[in-house]
Amino acid sequence: MAESRASWSGHLSFILAAAASAIGLGNLWRFPYLAAQYGGGAFIAVYVALSLTLGFTLLVTEIAIGRKSRQSQLTAFSLLGGRRWAWVGILSTVVPFLISPYYAVIGGWVVKYLAHYAAAAATGAPAIADPSRYFDAFVASGVWPSVFMAFFIAMTIAIIMLGVKNGIEKVNAVMMPLLFLTALGLAVYIMFLPGAAAGIKYYLVPDFSRAGPGGLGKIFLGAMGQMFFSLSLAMGIMVTYGSYMRRDSSIPHAAVRIALADTFIAILSGFMVIPVVHAFAVSRGIDPETALKAGPGLLFKSLPEIFGTFGPVGNILALAFFSLVFFAALTSAISMSEACVAAICDYLGCRRRPAAFWFGVFCVLTGLMSALSMRTLSFVDSVVNCALMPVAAIGIALFAGWSHGPGAIMDELEAHGAKMRFSRAFSIALRYFAPLLVTAILVSEMCRVLGIGGWSI
Ligand code: ALA
Repeated sequence: MAESRASWSGHLSFILAAAASAIGLGNLWRFPYLAAQYGGGAFIAVYVALSLTLGFTLLVTEIAIGRKSRQSQLTAFSLLGGRRWAWVGILSTVVPFLISPYYAVIGGWVVKYLAHYAAAAATGAPAIADPSRYFDAFVASGVWPSVFMAFFIAMTIAIIMLGVKNGIEKVNAVMMPLLFLTALGLAVYIMFLPGAAAGIKYYLVPDFSRAGPGGLGKIFLGAMGQMFFSLSLAMGIMVTYGSYMRRDSSIPHAAVRIALADTFIAILSGFMVIPVVHAFAVSRGIDPETALKAGPGLLFKSLPEIFGTFGPVGNILALAFFSLVFFAALTSAISMSEACVAAICDYLGCRRRPAAFWFGVFCVLTGLMSALSMRTLSFVDSVVNCALMPVAAIGIALFAGWSHGPGAIMDELEAHGAKMRFSRAFSIALRYFAPLLVTAILVSEMCRVLGIGGWSI
């Protein structure tokens, strides 16, 4: 028997949940190295401008589609637009189904480091002697990454089983304030360390030359790809979360706050990560950009090595840092799983608990492939980010801009009673800018994969 549709307790709960989804590994890990790679302040300026225009447009559109249909992404598009739009719902559902398992693998790595540093901080144990070897040995063991992944999935699924109000909202109410406080505390501490100024300068001063040939174009595409991942767009999440929203809540009011919170934490992450990595790289004669671009190595090798040079306080700093990454990863993983579980429930008309249980089993089984092989993890990540998400986003923009229509979306955005400002700009952004700009990402990614031209990002 189907359950009645869940709903958020209030407007603030929705903002907190959507912000918790948006703020994830993308902010803490990917944003700092992209900012370093794409010219510091130049990237930050383009990113902020894009988030508050195109990002805002697509965010309110996804939430409006969810609230209007009262369905998760899988069934929302066909309900509002007929069967010919079902593919958009299917694609937006495939994305979180593919991301959730490998996101849990990384979540498991975070739990492993968190446990290590909690024990080290409590016992005063020395720092990890060789973080590079430590991480490689851990990943290569196969068994332990699988165990930690399964643990991370079990936590996520347990929260989903508790429901929207008793599970997701309660976890966010604890983790999000802790996340903001830890991020602020760490950023302030690191910014006032001796030698931090050079890194801050490297982070904030615009330098187009770092992006290489085609500078501004690359900065633009890099910022756009990051914005999609970071705002949890084209992952079905915002449609699902919107479907739990009350009609007297203002979607634009919420979306501005979600985009601002997400951007704030992304920029703050740069203040945490870049100064320490920059100082360390300079002291070792390494190019800071190379050090920052180290992929998983940045979080799990470089930063532990740097924390190790801080003496006893290093374990505390590392514990704070990995707690922060853990809060961000868990709350984002919850939102992806919720989008999948809600899609199963809406499609099959089944109850939340069995749907969540079987989705958990699916994640463990498919996650094993990524837990056992980094190449599989990177491959799935590339397929999702470079192809599936852009195509889903183009579908959403075409559906909302040309089939359902900006007018109908705007009616939903004004349902709480207040008129929306900039309605003409919204309509133009949805109909023209969104599909064209996302197509540019798709083409650029295809060129990169196929090794064609200099437009790759
Ligand atoms: N928006 C989430 C992140 O940035 C998925 O990690």
